[in-house]
Amino acid sequence: APNISVANVQAHLNQFQSIARANGGNRAHGRPGYLASVNWVKSKLDAAGFTTRVQSFTYGGATGYNLIADYPGGDANNVIMLGGHLDSVTAGPGINDNGTGSASILEVALQMKATNFQPTKHVRFGWWGAEELGLRGSTAYVNSLSTTEKSRIKAYLNFDMTGSPNPGYFVYNGADGQPTGSVALQQRLQAGFTSLGVQTELTNVGGRSDHAAFARANIPTGGTFTGAEQTKTSAQAAKWGGTAGQAFDRCYHRSCDTTSNINATALDRNADVIAYALWATAS
Ligand code: PHE
Ligand code: ZN
Ligand code: ZN
Ligand code: ZN
Repeated sequence: APNISVANVQAHLNQFQSIARANGGNRAHGRPGYLASVNWVKSKLDAAGFTTRVQSFTYGGATGYNLIADYPGGDANNVIMLGGHLDSVTAGPGINDNGTGSASILEVALQMKATNFQPTKHVRFGWWGAEELGLRGSTAYVNSLSTTEKSRIKAYLNFDMTGSPNPGYFVYNGADGQPTGSVALQQRLQAGFTSLGVQTELTNVGGRSDHAAFARANIPTGGTFTGAEQTKTSAQAAKWGGTAGQAFDRCYHRSCDTTSNINATALDRNADVIAYALWATAS
């Protein structure tokens, strides 16, 4: 798998921040900064030869949008999906939550093309709308699939908050009682961090992000996370550095969730692990 350039991921984050600044300070569902974000990501993927589609849905009296991008080729009966939510809360530009996951999977997608990766499985990406209002976009996407289409999706990997300023290195627990958390996907993500020499902890994310929409449809799921409002313990600071007694992300859901609210090392490591897991899962 390629080593993902964190500078490229950060350049995408700068774009999200510019889009928010030009659109009233956020990229929230039903606001112009959201659709501008969709259109910008779509343009990058179109230029790289992906087949893209914008799926509309309605929530709370506003139109929401999911962006779906298919990498050409691979076995259509064996689909690996990666996704993350592209919407922010209204309070701010949503750079860690979830510019990071959105920008990282975008850069991984672009590197598939740049390295001429030819996976045996078919690879599809999703950028979800209205996660912040209750997983609305990812749920609309999963509900739009036929039983056959759902059964073709063999794995869904979710990335929501991967550059927290006081980071932890969490992998979704594949055995946390969710319908279809996947221990195999969990172990693949853990192996990615191990290859970087980074210790991880398992986290029970439950229904807190878009993987839950896929889990409810019995699709195996996994993901990584660098922490939100919870406090880093002294044991965690000893293993990961950073500040004990402080939140992983003190700007969670606030106006200060800007490009200053990012730990570049965590962002880079997670992006590298996304590539590691995709190359291993899709080959
Ligand atoms: N989904 C939460 C949000 O967007 C953040 C989160 C991500 C929480 C992953 C837990 C695990 O606000
Ligand atoms: Zn890297
Ligand atoms: Zn959020
Ligand atoms: Zn989020």
